Amino acid sequence: MIEFKNIAKSYHNLNVLKDLNFTIEDHQLTVIIGPSGCGKSTSLKLINRMIQPTKGEILIDGKNILKMNPQVLRRSIGYVIQQVGLFPHLTVEKNIGVVPRLLKWDKAKIKQRTEQMLKLINLDYDQYAHKFPHQLSGGEAQRVGVARALAGDPPLLLMDEPFAAVDPITRQKLQNQFMRIQKELKKTILFITHDIDEAIKLADKIIILNKGQIVQYDTPEKILKKPINKFVHDFIGSDRALKRLSRLTVEEYIGETKGIRTQDITATPLEQIENDFSWLIDHEDKLCGWFNKMEARENNDVNMGIYQSNPEEIAVKMDMTLRDAFSYMLEQGFQTIAVVDDKGKLLGEISLQLIEKIIFLGNKNAAKK
Ligand SMILES: Nc1ncnc2c1ncn2[C@@H]1O[C@H](COP(=O)(O)OP(=O)(O)OP(=O)(O)O)[C@@H](O)[C@H]1O
Ligand SMILES: [Mg+2]
Repeated sequence: MIEFKNIAKSYHNLNVLKDLNFTIEDHQLTVIIGPSGCGKSTSLKLINRMIQPTKGEILIDGKNILKMNPQVLRRSIGYVIQQVGLFPHLTVEKNIGVVPRLLKWDKAKIKQRTEQMLKLINLDYDQYAHKFPHQLSGGEAQRVGVARALAGDPPLLLMDEPFAAVDPITRQKLQNQFMRIQKELKKTILFITHDIDEAIKLADKIIILNKGQIVQYDTPEKILKKPINKFVHDFIGSDRALKRLSRLTVEEYIGETKGIRTQDITATPLEQIENDFSWLIDHEDKLCGWFNKMEARENNDVNMGIYQSNPEEIAVKMDMTLRDAFSYMLEQGFQTIAVVDDKGKLLGEISLQLIEKIIFLGNKNAAKK
């Protein structure tokens, strides 16, 4: 548990933080969000004592951090700084091993840990361990930054805009991967972002900061439902119902569906094919397109209803959000979107009807799987 008690921070006559009081719960991901310059990074830097408060105290598990040895404190905190900050002269492997080396782990254990961390962030050891930071893409560097922060297995992670420097698609992948990691590791995380969608998607709790003060500290659901004032309301933006969809994963709401094989369609009389719309699967149950019965009927030719397609374009994965599923549907003009595993095997589907229910009735009334 982290407690900020009457924390103030000033530089000369600039009051960056003003009497800040809050508590961060263990094993939760708390997001700090607010306009540029409102004091987000300053709050994080105070926790690992890169800077000192002008007033007040910070307690971690009841202990005043100002009374702790700063080196010992920092080794118990994973820190992902704004702009990644990998050491440029160290390889990926050496970067990840920084804290384990400070903790004096033996060589074999550090190597094993590095391998484990690279696996966690989906980077191949042989391909990446010996690269230097300038040989990585922005997204890869950010992932290595996250791996480095996790390497010493700290209970607490401070992450300052860890996914800011990448394109939206890579960012979405990093977020999904990160959520999967957090589900497993259950760290206490303080995460800064500028991006309200990212905050809503990832956070257990959100702190909205403005001019060095907390405006609202609540769950994403409550903030979306009841923004405390106009500042929060405007900050969240207009599409609150859509934003709620990014809190819900495909895995939670996946519905059943039966795929149909192309050879079964061509071998079956049209009127005996049950549904107007079916997903096509190959001999390994992998999604390979869809079948539209109406079009086959109109053209009096089964083949005219068969559409071959790449699963990447017509399917989502379990760890994606309902918001992702909804935008796929809009893009494709489909009433349902298929769900596949990493190999492309059809697992189920998400329907537009379900999404409508959630948007209009709230997720409590929509049938979870
Ligand atoms: N060392 C410093 N000396 C003087 N002013 C500083 C110093 N560090 C930060 N500030 C000021 O404190 C304010 C808060 O900075 P901080 O880095 O916490 O903002 P932030 O909320 O993280 O912003 P961003 O979203 O742009 O990263 C800013 O106005 C900044 O100019
Ligand atoms: Mg900052």
